[in-house]
Amino acid sequence: MQPLQHVLGGTRLLRQRPACWTLRSVPRAWSATCSPDSGPHPRETKHMGGGLEAFRAKLAAGPTMQHFLQDVAPVQESRCLPDDAKEDSDHYLGSGALAETTRKVYLETYGCQMNVNDTEIAWSILQRSGYLRTSRLEEADVILLVTCSIREKAERTIWNRLRHLRALKSKRSSSQVPLRIGILGCMAERLKEKILEQEKMVDVVAGPDAYRDLPRLLAVAESGQQAANVLLSLDETYADVLPVQTSSSSTAAFVSIMRGCDNMCSYCIVPFTRGRERSRPVASILQEVQLLSDQGVKEVTLLGQNVNSYRDTSEVQFLSAAPAPLSRGFSTVYKTKQGGLRFAGLLDRVSLVDPEMRIRFTSPHPKDFPDEVFQLMRERHNVCRQLHVPAQSGSSRVLEAMRRGYSREAYLELVHHIRASLPGVSLSSDFIAGFCGETEADHQQTVSLLRQARYNAAFIFAYSMRQKTRAFHRLQDDVPSEVKLRRLKELMAVFREEAAVANAATVGRAQVVLVEGPSRRSPSDLCGRNDGNIKVIFPDVEMDDGSGRGSTVKAQPGDYVLVKISSASSQTLKGAPLRRTTLRESAEFR
Ligand code: 5AD
Ligand code: SF4
Repeated sequence: MQPLQHVLGGTRLLRQRPACWTLRSVPRAWSATCSPDSGPHPRETKHMGGGLEAFRAKLAAGPTMQHFLQDVAPVQESRCLPDDAKEDSDHYLGSGALAETTRKVYLETYGCQMNVNDTEIAWSILQRSGYLRTSRLEEADVILLVTCSIREKAERTIWNRLRHLRALKSKRSSSQVPLRIGILGCMAERLKEKILEQEKMVDVVAGPDAYRDLPRLLAVAESGQQAANVLLSLDETYADVLPVQTSSSSTAAFVSIMRGCDNMCSYCIVPFTRGRERSRPVASILQEVQLLSDQGVKEVTLLGQNVNSYRDTSEVQFLSAAPAPLSRGFSTVYKTKQGGLRFAGLLDRVSLVDPEMRIRFTSPHPKDFPDEVFQLMRERHNVCRQLHVPAQSGSSRVLEAMRRGYSREAYLELVHHIRASLPGVSLSSDFIAGFCGETEADHQQTVSLLRQARYNAAFIFAYSMRQKTRAFHRLQDDVPSEVKLRRLKELMAVFREEAAVANAATVGRAQVVLVEGPSRRSPSDLCGRNDGNIKVIFPDVEMDDGSGRGSTVKAQPGDYVLVKISSASSQTLKGAPLRRTTLRESAEFR
């Protein structure tokens, strides 16, 4: 998934309590390892109101044995607590302690699009507890970093940021409530309480499945104690957390459909930080997509670590469904999963919600592409002909060491099959340069695969050894950093050359562009994306409004415009607007 930094997500709203709400929000991990703050802050009483004394009394009473037993429960599993355990936990930190607050929270996002989505989830849970959101760091009472662990560099950036925040915290005036700092997401999950030990100024640590517990964790932090919940769940999908559009100009949205990963690629930390695969029930996805359509959103990207491994077992009638076949020549480390509504069924239903809404999905795994998916993409004019097909390497030997479950040949056969099934499809991929044992010959195989597949977009990374992974335990990180870097640069250069050729194929042709807004480089131009997700720039001028009455308009964000492409680079297309259009009307121009 595309890396990005410091993104503020939109607003989301909790629809209603799910059946299991009270139980799931009960803490199963209790942790208050030390008290970095000496005594309450003068303004705390004001903020916490009369409930503070009762809250302190509860904290002073401490946890019962039950809490410690819960704390040592295996982290992989999540289940509803029996009623008596629930009451016990409630007795310890009751509703008074979680009373509404007026604290201002600043959220900062690192890593992939999943983290942007998680930021919105965390925010809507906090909003429901009365937190206000600020986009100004200096104004914040609570700073939460939604973190990434995928490569060492991502974590280093966050440690540096924490150093800066430590200074901010210690400079805080005594007339203000103490600043609280929380680490959320993958880094929280990977390092768990170690973060609290290493960085005494961090107050809260919450893993990707613990966001419902944030109000409680912050309430504990308000008492001056550190708090952590890093339990992974088998079923948490935050299905009941629905988005609310904050900006009317917003044309595109992401909808989370599944979480976690069962693939265990040997280099990857994700299965350890985000846990097992689980799919969000289709009914709640359709409801969210409908809501977004009603709000005027024109493009939805279905989101998940392995979107096309989607398997909804929430309805009885889905259980008898035949298993979806793997792509030819692909295998998995786990046994075939039986039953459930699969990705093609979901895509079918989602694409019918609004024929004028574009549908994309990311990030898929190449193993889960049955023909049904391609057939749907061919038939439905609103499902974009754009596929992310992460290869990781072009060498079968390296792919085996990576435990990807396919060979170079099987991958290339899949690419040919996709191109034959979906003429004009735009392809993208991920690659890792310098994986354990990668020789110069292996690297050249990746270069040649990049040339053969000719991607429109690629995300290329230098290998970064991660603890806990199979590669960490079994393989040697033996490619020197400078060699990794040199190979990375070579792969980038080859990718760019090929992408320029791939994009040049659109020159002279009309493309349907969804307008996002003014171009950042020149305000007299508009910027949008074509069906293949390539950026298109064109002049912001009057054009035929597409009504057939001969009137003209200037295109607005959210409009579809037919643009005739005049030039292309490896990243951008440029052209002239022909007319405003609709997806249905311009299906032939994809
Ligand atoms: N080192 C470098 N890149 C990695 N990725 C995943 N794990 C690592 C790692 N340890 C890359 C893969 C994946 C993308 C999201 O990040 O290419 O597809
Ligand atoms: Fe990591 Fe592989 Fe899962 Fe992708 S499919 S998240 S690379 S383990």
